[in-house]
Formats: sequence, C-alpha cells, structure tokens
Amino acid sequence: METLMKEKTKSQQAIELENNYGAHNYHSLPVVLEKGKGVYVWDVEGKKYYDFLSAYSAVNQGHCHPKIIKALTDQASTLALTSRAFYNDCLGVYEKYVTEYFGFDKVLPMNTGAEAVETALKLTRKWAYEVKGIDENEAVIIVCKGNFHGRTTTIISFSNDPTARKNFGPYTPGFLKIPYNDINALEEALKNKNVAGFLVEPIQGEAGVFVPNDGYLEEAYELCKAAGVLFIADEVQTGIARTGKLLACDYENVKPDVLILGKALSGGVYPVSAVLANNNIMNVIKPGEHGSTFGGNPIAAKVAIAALEVIKDEKLAENAQRLGELFRVEINKLVAEIDIIKLVRGKGLLNAIVINDTEDSSTAWDICLKLRDNGLLAKPTHGNIIRFAPPLVINESQLLECVAIIKKTFKEF
Ligand SMILES: Cc1ncc(COP(=O)(O)O)c(C=O)c1O
Repeated sequence: METLMKEKTKSQQAIELENNYGAHNYHSLPVVLEKGKGVYVWDVEGKKYYDFLSAYSAVNQGHCHPKIIKALTDQASTLALTSRAFYNDCLGVYEKYVTEYFGFDKVLPMNTGAEAVETALKLTRKWAYEVKGIDENEAVIIVCKGNFHGRTTTIISFSNDPTARKNFGPYTPGFLKIPYNDINALEEALKNKNVAGFLVEPIQGEAGVFVPNDGYLEEAYELCKAAGVLFIADEVQTGIARTGKLLACDYENVKPDVLILGKALSGGVYPVSAVLANNNIMNVIKPGEHGSTFGGNPIAAKVAIAALEVIKDEKLAENAQRLGELFRVEINKLVAEIDIIKLVRGKGLLNAIVINDTEDSSTAWDICLKLRDNGLLAKPTHGNIIRFAPPLVINESQLLECVAIIKKTFKEF
C-alpha cells in the first residue's frame, strides 16, 4: 500500500484525498494548484498555466497581489476578529471608503456572494412592508430565468437549474420568474402591486455569459422606478471592473437601488461581500435583525480597501475593456476559421466561446482538458460553453499568447 501511494503523482494523491474525504459537490478539472502570481498558477508538478477562470471572477486583481496580501497579513497579525458585538477601528473606515467609491449612503458587510444576495432579499422585503406598505408576507420579488445567485435554500428556490434544485425542497415562496432580457415580460410582471423588487444580473455569467440587449438594464430600471419597485443588481460576478467598467450597470448609467458585490471585492484573498443602498432603504434594518459573526471583520475591511485601490491605481476597468475587445476580435477570426467554434460573446474580460454542439455534450469539458494540457485553465459553464475570464492584470502580449493557445487547442480538437 505504502509503495503504491509513492508511485502516484502528487496530483493524483491530492485528488484522491479530496475524493475520499470531501463531499462530492464539485466536478473539478483535474489539475492540482499550489501557487499563483498575477495571471499565472502552478500545479504541484511545477507546470505553469494561464488562469482563465480567476476563481469565477474573484481574482480580478491577479493572484497574490502584493498590496492586498500586505493588507491581509498586517491586519491578521494585529486584530483578526471582534464580531460586531464590539466596534473595531477598521470597519467604519472601510464603510466610508466603499460607500463613497460606489456612491451609496450605506453598506451592509457580509462574507460570501450568496449571503449578500440573501441580505438584499431580506432588505427588499422589509422595505416593502415598512416603507412601500405591502401587506405582511405578501411581497413578491421578480427574478430571471437562467439566473445564478448562489446556493442557499431561498436562492435555489428561484433557480431553474434542475441540478441546483432537485430534492432540496420545499422551496421559499415569494418569487416570480420571468424570461431574462425581456422587457415586456417585466412590464407585465410589474402590474402586480405586491412586487417589491427586481433582482437581476447585468450579464448572466453562470448561464453562459448572456449579455442582454443594449438598453435592457436602463429600460428595466425605469420601469421599476415608475412602479415603485427596487432595482437590485447582482454584480457579484460582473462587478469590480470585470466587464470593462467598475460596474456592468455603468454601461447604461443605471444606479441600482440595491447593489450586491462579492468575489473581487477582496481580490480573491478573503471572503468579503457587501450590499449597498441609500438610507431610505438601508435604514429599515435595526440591531439584531440581520448580521454575521465574520461580516465586516477587520481583515475584511482592510483587504477590501486595498483590493478597491488596486482596481483604480492599475486602471483595471480600462484594461479589461481594451483587452476584452481585442480578445473578441481575435476569437472572431477563429469563428470564421474553425467549424466547432460557433461564436464568442461577452463584455470586457468576461467572455464565453459557444461550441457547435449540444448543451448536454461533453465537448466543452474535453476542450478544457486539452486547454489545460496546453497551459491554459478554463471551465465550461454548460456542455457547449466555455467561459474565459482571466485576471484583469493580464497584458496584451499575454492575452495574444493565450489566443494562440486557444487557437492551437481548437485546431487540434
Ligand atoms: C452573480 C452571482 N451571484 C452570487 C454568487 C454567489 O457567490 P458565492 O459563491 O460567493 O456565494 C455568484 C457566484 O458565482 C454569482 O456569479
């Protein structure tokens, strides 16, 4: 047994450990990483890869950004956690910084994206009863088909992904699902006087990087405003420069009533999420009504400030916009050349290649294995869609090298 164990590669051993001792709740690409720097990651055998997933857009600032890591380690060795039972000297500074950064009166700090979405839903319901005047327990929140907002019981209640939902019922009521990118459906749904909010991803990332029509967000926002309904933007994946603007909503000059952030709010080094809103909404939350032991802890506060400073200092939104355009131009050349590539779509550096095959095929997975062999890590969102989302610190020559890897891989396939 001992000798057998020794014969296995480090990668095989790591994968076996996860298989044996971890719940099987992910279908990970078989690659075992041990180090990251900027746009690169290295596996346990020392092979170097371009990271084209960025931990689902959490590592926008690049792996182990020195400024963010310094903020993390300095604060970790000073004061890590107080809970909100007491004040700490970091949270208020962060709250002022983040609200001014995004232009809101107040923030409610949480840890994961799903928690922030839950927070936004609770906030919207409470606002509906206490400000809008909807009868208790009657509030409805409109959501979109194909959404992905996280994994809690309430959130999967309004998912239409059978894998995310099946056998996790009974489901939370109070949600009305309409087609994404369908302004008429929204207009119709808003006729219901019990509607409190409209929860939407400015681009549906997990669904396969679905970019709605130009004008959709702006029209949706205007309809919500006219109906006295909160426009809730889930920018957990699209936010913080990923799509070439600070927020994807900025493309249509939409200022959400409730903004949900996560992932890259920490540069991927720590779970930090947030809900931002103005006083007329946020002030409905009183002591004891919502919270989290870790939400707004000193490390999170320092890390988030550093992560947001990096976005501005290094002009990462501008870089994402410029290199995202270049990426789509280059991949569009492959669309003309290579049959199995159907199209490329996206904004900034949140893009997807759609493959000429069915949604339930394994083609995207098989291509991701080949991309891995050729030194680039990406992950399918469906059987025929691969998302390409590198850290935003990537430069032009690195991006072109990656396009060459993608081209070579598709040609080999
Ligand atoms: C749009 C969106 N919302 C929410 C989440 C959930 O975030 P977390 O995995 O941190 O709970 C995700 C994660 O992918 C997401 O893409």
